[in-house]
Amino acid sequence: MKAAVLHEFGMPLSVEQVIDPVIGTGEVLVDVVAAPVLSYSGEILSGARRYLLPTPVVPGAGAIGRVRTVGPDATRLQPGDWVFCDPTVRARDGLPAPDITLQGASARGEGGQKLQRYFRDGTFAAQVRVPTENAAPIGMIDPAEAGRWCAVGALLIAYGGLLAMDFRPGGTLLVSGATGNFGSSTVALALAMGARCVVAPGRNIAVLDDLRQRFGERLVPVRLTGDADTDTAAMRAAAPGSIDAVQDFLPPSAAAAVTRAAIMTLRQGGRAVLMGGVGMMGGEDLALPYPWIMRNLITVRGQWMYDAAAIPGLVGLIRSGLLDLRHWAVTAFPLDDANAAVANAAAQAGPFRLTVLKP
Ligand SMILES: NC(=O)c1ccc[n+]([C@@H]2O[C@H](COP(=O)([O-])OP(=O)(O)OC[C@H]3O[C@@H](n4cnc5c(N)ncnc54)[C@H](OP(=O)(O)O)[C@@H]3O)[C@@H](O)[C@H]2O)c1
Repeated sequence: MKAAVLHEFGMPLSVEQVIDPVIGTGEVLVDVVAAPVLSYSGEILSGARRYLLPTPVVPGAGAIGRVRTVGPDATRLQPGDWVFCDPTVRARDGLPAPDITLQGASARGEGGQKLQRYFRDGTFAAQVRVPTENAAPIGMIDPAEAGRWCAVGALLIAYGGLLAMDFRPGGTLLVSGATGNFGSSTVALALAMGARCVVAPGRNIAVLDDLRQRFGERLVPVRLTGDADTDTAAMRAAAPGSIDAVQDFLPPSAAAAVTRAAIMTLRQGGRAVLMGGVGMMGGEDLALPYPWIMRNLITVRGQWMYDAAAIPGLVGLIRSGLLDLRHWAVTAFPLDDANAAVANAAAQAGPFRLTVLKP
């Protein structure tokens, strides 16, 4: 089959013929119809992000595709079924805290790297081999919509955070990094889930205006000044009531002080979920005032990816019409143009823009 292969960090992807994947028990082979290309794929492939990803490798995390072959133990999946290939591969022998690898992207710790030796190649290819439970059915779709359904990848990550904080209808959420890819997915999702209000801080007025135009009065934009105390006060003042929860999706290039300014807006009993890359490339750590956390009964937790059980819930939000995938504009590239797709994803970073490869 044809695949885009990374032979060495910093080298361009090489589109070439590789050996067809073969499945065993507990696995499914999927024909990739559309694979999302993250805005920071270039940083992963250059090695700048220092993701654990041994080369040579077929990169690409997640895809929308159709089942080609199932293993002997699949009881419901059928060839032809439309599925989301969940890149979060969880070891089957490690409950309650399984080792995890992100197929085609990275791995967590030694166990994740061990799993990665087997579930390593990702979705920048004609076919991908995934564990059976990672081929998540999405129901019938118009093949022309496969690219847009790739939004599910980022939405699921956003959903993982909202579920982790037990976000409820009627609540007020602040999204730190709201003008970014994962942040804007969080905005759309929280509003679809019945948020009373989403506070969207950002530096880019045009993007903030666009968010307001898309979502109306329940979306409250706040322009950040870079002064932490001023920004915390402005974000608090913008919300119609108190802020129940904060979801942070700032990238490694952002200072921890920006995350801190967002968290400090929380009401008593508020919850913050950290999902970004702050600190991954160095810089000061996130120092939150101990007495403030204690006296205000604040919960701060991290969240990496999501539980597989989140997938049917997200598909349900889309199928119900509550979450409208028409927000996303798709630019598609053939597999032969994988390097152009990576460059485009970086140039077109931001909300509601998807770059996809269509093998
Ligand atoms: N936890 C997980 O499971 C998980 C999964 C995937 C990715 N991630 C993380 O999510 C991060 C965000 O990815 P993305 O694709 O959404 O990035 P992105 O599209 O580049 O968005 C970055 C956001 O951060 C804001 N920002 C950047 N620097 C800032 C600063 N100094 N002050 C204030 N705002 C700043 C940007 O605002 P402006 O518009 O003002 O620039 C934008 O809203 C990634 O870096 C990755 O580490 C986490």
